[in-house]
Order: sequence, then C-alpha cells, then structure tokens
Amino acid sequence: MYTEKEPIVKCPDSEILWEQYYKLRYEVLRKPWQQEVGSETDPSDETSTHGAAIINNEIVAGGRMHLIDTETAQVRYMAVSPIYQGQGMGGKVLQYLENEGKKQGAKKIILQARENAINFYLAKGYTITGEGILLFGVIPHKWMEKII
Ligand SMILES: CC(C)(COP(=O)(O)OP(=O)(O)OC[C@H]1O[C@@H](n2cnc3c(N)ncnc32)[C@H](O)[C@@H]1OP(=O)(O)O)[C@@H](O)C(=O)NCCC(=O)NCCS
Repeated sequence: MYTEKEPIVKCPDSEILWEQYYKLRYEVLRKPWQQEVGSETDPSDETSTHGAAIINNEIVAGGRMHLIDTETAQVRYMAVSPIYQGQGMGGKVLQYLENEGKKQGAKKIILQARENAINFYLAKGYTITGEGILLFGVIPHKWMEKII
C-alpha cells in the first residue's frame, strides 16, 4: 500500500481531527504518567493556535502556540506519535507554530522543554535560559527560547 509520508500541516478542522489531536496529546504527554483523561487540556486551548501534522487523514504530531504578550509566544504540548518520532514531524509542527507566531507579531518563542526533548529544541535553534518545572514530580524541564 502506498503511504504518504509528507504530512499536511494545519490546524485541525474537523471533529474527528480535533478528537485525534487531543487523544495524541493525552497518549504521549499524560497517560504514561497515569494522569487523568482531561488533564491534557487547559483553558488556554480555546484561544491558542494549534498545529498538527496529518498523514493519511491521521494526526501523527501536534502542538500549540499562544501569545503571552505582544511580542512573545509560548509553545506547549508538542507531541509526536511514538512510531513517527525522529522523522521530522515535530520539526514541521514547530515550524508551523513559529510561522503562526510571527504572523501574530511574536518576535520570540519561549517554552518549557522536557529533559528528553531538549536536544530536539537545540537542533531547532532554541537556547536554554533557565530551570523549569518538575512535572508530576518526575519530569524535569528547562526554559528555552528562540528569537524568530
Ligand atoms: C520531542 C519531539 C516533539 C520531537 O519531535 P520529532 O518528530 O521526534 O523530532 P524531529 O524528527 O522533527 O526532529 C528531530 C531533530 O531533533 C534532533 N533530536 C535530538 N534529540 C532528539 C530527541 N530526543 N528526539 C527527537 N529529536 C531529537 C534530531 O537530530 C533532529 O535534528 P535535525 O532536524 O537537525 O535533523 C517528539 O519526539 C516527542 O513527541 N517526544 C515525546 C513527547 C515530548 O517529550 N514532547 C515534548 C514536550 S516539551
């Protein structure tokens, strides 16, 4: 069977895609730490810009961006389906979110990177600026930023 490997990157635009988007977030960022369903969303989702990489009508990666002041955007909830990790999907979603941030006036992106994702963000031009949260008491984060 022919499989399309080049994803479409866009904001989810159907009920099915939104469902997949939040499910992927839960499966990758919450379930492995026994967090409750519902813990994968927060009130800022309603006013954020969301990006997803879609292959064969399936969301394989997602992330979101929201402005925290007129010149600064924060990226959160970057998640790639385990079988698609390391294949450029996270990079494409991040690029999409950076472009959207730029369109909305952001000059800088900030984020809290999980320890395992720090090298990914370094590869994408981010620098470490400080210690971040210890999520669920076990996942250390570093604050990182990039001028866009
Ligand atoms: C971290 C994550 C978002 C990266 O997305 P990805 O699709 O796997 O990464 P990509 O293939 O787009 O990019 C890989 C790039 O980062 C580099 N990299 C280094 N360490 C890496 C790591 N641990 N994981 C992925 N990429 C890494 C690669 O060398 C590559 O660089 P290049 O583009 O210059 O070749 C994804 O692996 C993921 O969802 N991980 C689990 C959840 C998570 O930790 N999310 C981040 C929360 S802050």
